[in-house]
Amino acid sequence: MEKKFYLFEDSAELAKQLAVDFKNAVEEKANSSESLTVALSGGHTPKAFFEILAEPPYRDEIPWENVTFFWGDERCVPPDNGESNYKMTNDSLLSHIDIPASNIHRVLGEDLPTNEALRYGKIIEENVATGVNGFPEFDWIFLGMGDDGHTASLFPGASNLKEMQRICVVAEHPDTGQKRISITFPVINNAKRVSFLVAGAAKAPVFKEILEKGSKPLPYPASMVEPENGLLEWYLDKAAAPEL
Ligand code: 6PG
Repeated sequence: MEKKFYLFEDSAELAKQLAVDFKNAVEEKANSSESLTVALSGGHTPKAFFEILAEPPYRDEIPWENVTFFWGDERCVPPDNGESNYKMTNDSLLSHIDIPASNIHRVLGEDLPTNEALRYGKIIEENVATGVNGFPEFDWIFLGMGDDGHTASLFPGASNLKEMQRICVVAEHPDTGQKRISITFPVINNAKRVSFLVAGAAKAPVFKEILEKGSKPLPYPASMVEPENGLLEWYLDKAAAPEL
């Protein structure tokens, strides 16, 4: 595993650089006329990045037919609900770009969570290349990190942190009880590239512990992200990583 840290003045600068990196990655894949398989994160931090991609030059220059979008996690709500990660992504990006509908694999947050975890796992299996270990091998997975160290919808202390077979699981937000669908660690740690997007002082205490953990195990799911044969990147603003 290769690990890289990128430090930015603020989340706006972070989003700008990420847009450049994203365009480069899609164009590289387009050269071999393949599609870049991307699992998106939810929450607030990716929104600024999406809004940049929805504007020129990115909106018109990125070969969107060479990108296939998935979500690393979703809240179990309908797609028009304010809590929906799909809605946030559609409002800030997808509704502004010319991408084939077949390149967008939405989690059906409105359906029965147990059924949807199974169905979405199959969708990923059918549309993402399989790695040597038999698990889907995404080209790029974006992750956020909660103040509590959760990532995707893998929360501290949850039994699904130990899931080693399934591609997707049903999760539950520890405070709200909200049901979620989340990809699992075998999928996350099988990706070619995993990028954390982390901004704001609230994330600093947990990030500091992860940075200094060495081989010490931590209870934070974000600290369990270790893409075996891939690249792990941390896109951070100064508020989240004052020690860097
Ligand atoms: C979600 C996410 C979650 C998110 C973190 C960070 O659906 O909530 O995918 O893992 O990335 O909670 O969220 P912020 O970017 O809003 O801080």
